[in-house]
Amino acid sequence: MTEESRLNGGAKDASAAPAVIERPVYDPSAPAAIEVEHIVKKYGDFTAVDDVSFSVKEGEIFGLLGPNGAGKSTLIRMMTTLIPITSGKARIAGQDVSKEPNAARRMIGVIPQALTSDLDLTVEENLNIYAKLYDVPAKERQRSIEELLGLVDLTKWRGAQTKTLSGGMRRRLEIARGLVHHPKIFFLDEPTTGLDPVSRVAVWEMLGNIKEHRKLTILITTHYMDEADRLCDRIAIVDHGKLVALDAPMALKASVPGSNVIEVQFENSPADWEERLHGLGEVTSVQHEGAGMYRVLTGNGSRTTTQLVEMAVQSGVQVKSLSVQNTTLDDVFVHYTGRQLRDELQKAYAFVMPQRPGLQP
Ligand SMILES: Nc1ncnc2c1ncn2[C@@H]1O[C@H](COP(=O)(O)OP(=O)(O)O)[C@@H](O)[C@H]1O
Ligand SMILES: [Mg+2]
Repeated sequence: MTEESRLNGGAKDASAAPAVIERPVYDPSAPAAIEVEHIVKKYGDFTAVDDVSFSVKEGEIFGLLGPNGAGKSTLIRMMTTLIPITSGKARIAGQDVSKEPNAARRMIGVIPQALTSDLDLTVEENLNIYAKLYDVPAKERQRSIEELLGLVDLTKWRGAQTKTLSGGMRRRLEIARGLVHHPKIFFLDEPTTGLDPVSRVAVWEMLGNIKEHRKLTILITTHYMDEADRLCDRIAIVDHGKLVALDAPMALKASVPGSNVIEVQFENSPADWEERLHGLGEVTSVQHEGAGMYRVLTGNGSRTTTQLVEMAVQSGVQVKSLSVQNTTLDDVFVHYTGRQLRDELQKAYAFVMPQRPGLQP
């Protein structure tokens, strides 16, 4: 084992683990748990959510996928009665959230984007306080807390002060806390943002367990495409406050022209290279990613690869690296928005390393 693979071993193994969540077949005839109709949120002149409509069926895991600032948290806040709706409607289990906010609130559990558990209390105390807040009867309270501690794998940490827990464990505590009052519909806003790959997979597994145990409908927001792909029965892609695509992950991928993506790096490619790649049979799109890297979408990965290598040999262009994969949600996002989600996130999280004197060559 190389040093690098040893160092990366844990994370790689975890992210390569088989899918953990059994997906029920999407049933369009099932009753709707969440219905959003032409919903709009304006802050002054700025439209944060722009005429969004969708419906989530009972028992579904539904994902809102989009970059920072897309309007995901604003959508959740409107659906969960935390902020008023500018226009349009949201119904939770048939209750209009603007007209019957208390009835809607009784049906839901919400995990907001920021971590909010009390650091000075123990795991169990955090759960107890919430159960009391929601008027869960004392006898039921203990039973529910035992069950949830088991489901999120924190039973042996029940007496630990929350500030001693890792980020992943705190997230799991918050997930348990959001369920102490037996809600039917569970909203989670970016539950794995900032967690390491191993903790992220642990949270996905937990959500799968919980959904089976409690027969929940789950609405989750994320900007991680692998998360949406693996966890969600259906995904709504949101961008600049608008819903740009909505379907099952497989169907979204199938809706993008081309079924394979070839990532290839050339050396000495001429100026018209992108155009010539585009001219190869069954190629549906070519993106030049800089430094001789191209991302080529095609309906036939093996045939295009052969043609591309032949063209390179004939033109004296060297192929430095090449890989062929199935299309991913990355390609879906580019197809519907014209941008890469990866770039959007890099922009949002970009920071400049302070220069340390004396280290420059
Ligand atoms: N209280 C507010 N006042 C003004 N603008 C807001 C407010 N809350 C959110 N926004 C803006 O609305 C847009 C959507 O924000 P948000 O829903 O938090 O996006 P996401 O959760 O997808 O990152 C952003 O441009 C954000 O700056
Ligand atoms: Mg958000």
